[in-house]
Amino acid sequence: MNSGELAGTVALITGSSRGIGRQTALLFAERGATVVLNGRNEAKLAETAELLRSRGYSATSVTADVTNADQCRAMITRVIAQHGRLDILVNNAGISMRGAFAQLDPGVIESVSRTNLLGAALPARFAVEAIIEARGSIVFVSSLAGVRGFAGVSIYSAAKMALTGLAEALHAELAPSGVHVGVVFVAFTENDPDKTVMGVDGAPVRVSRKASTTQRQVAEEILRTIVRRRRKSYMTAAGKYLVFMQRHFPRITDAVILRSRGRIHGTFLL
Ligand SMILES: NC(=O)c1ccc[n+]([C@@H]2O[C@H](COP(=O)([O-])OP(=O)(O)OC[C@H]3O[C@@H](n4cnc5c(N)ncnc54)[C@H](OP(=O)(O)O)[C@@H]3O)[C@@H](O)[C@H]2O)c1
Repeated sequence: MNSGELAGTVALITGSSRGIGRQTALLFAERGATVVLNGRNEAKLAETAELLRSRGYSATSVTADVTNADQCRAMITRVIAQHGRLDILVNNAGISMRGAFAQLDPGVIESVSRTNLLGAALPARFAVEAIIEARGSIVFVSSLAGVRGFAGVSIYSAAKMALTGLAEALHAELAPSGVHVGVVFVAFTENDPDKTVMGVDGAPVRVSRKASTTQRQVAEEILRTIVRRRRKSYMTAAGKYLVFMQRHFPRITDAVILRSRGRIHGTFLL
């Protein structure tokens, strides 16, 4: 139980009541970490904590909204009080949207920005002192939409791109203290069957599209990013190709994306 790459560490994974966060929690526990779960829905968190316990791992959880500074401060205080340290923070909580920018309700712009950007910056801000002490890791879960803006996911793309800026700045500030800061750019991933994103009016919309990775593969990439102390990890061959093309052939990339706009608009529901 306490062997594995993460033995002896305490890891807080935001948004781990379901989806990618839950798989990451499970994998980290398998690799020896003491895992702290987070989300807003207490019942869902309890269900996930029970899942970990049923597999023989201990798990605690903190109910907190990552967009609320007071709740983030209290969450980190509680982790330190319970476990005495914090080595790893995975900023995974996020929400996506779909729809043309011209039709977006301003509330969607605000929610998607708050959750994906503030919801990562605030936990990091309150955790940073403990992570410096542990010479640990802060990882941001981004998206291929954080590499390149796509039609239909404007604000999501913008918020995920902002995470790259935050991670680069944190690396510049914290690398001398031995802290690792990484970003994982995730591709289309299998979703929990009840997953929703925000429609143009803010109403939840079901997501159904073909996935190119499993949640477990994303969790494994997050683990590798931490263990190898990587700065940036791009998932899938298509993701790596996108990065290459954008860096070396930006005009061709623009043309291809413009041509496939309709298709992307319909399917790019990260
Ligand atoms: N699925 C994909 O294809 C894909 C692709 C690229 C990137 N990503 C990124 O991967 C991450 C996880 O995605 P997912 O598909 O696993 O999403 P998901 O199934 O919708 O799970 C999101 C998790 O975040 C929590 N959460 C949302 N808002 C929160 C808040 N304000 N405070 C605390 N917790 C909050 C949710 O719990 P509560 O609702 O109970 O709070 C839930 O545990 C996100 O950052 C997403 O942008 C996903």
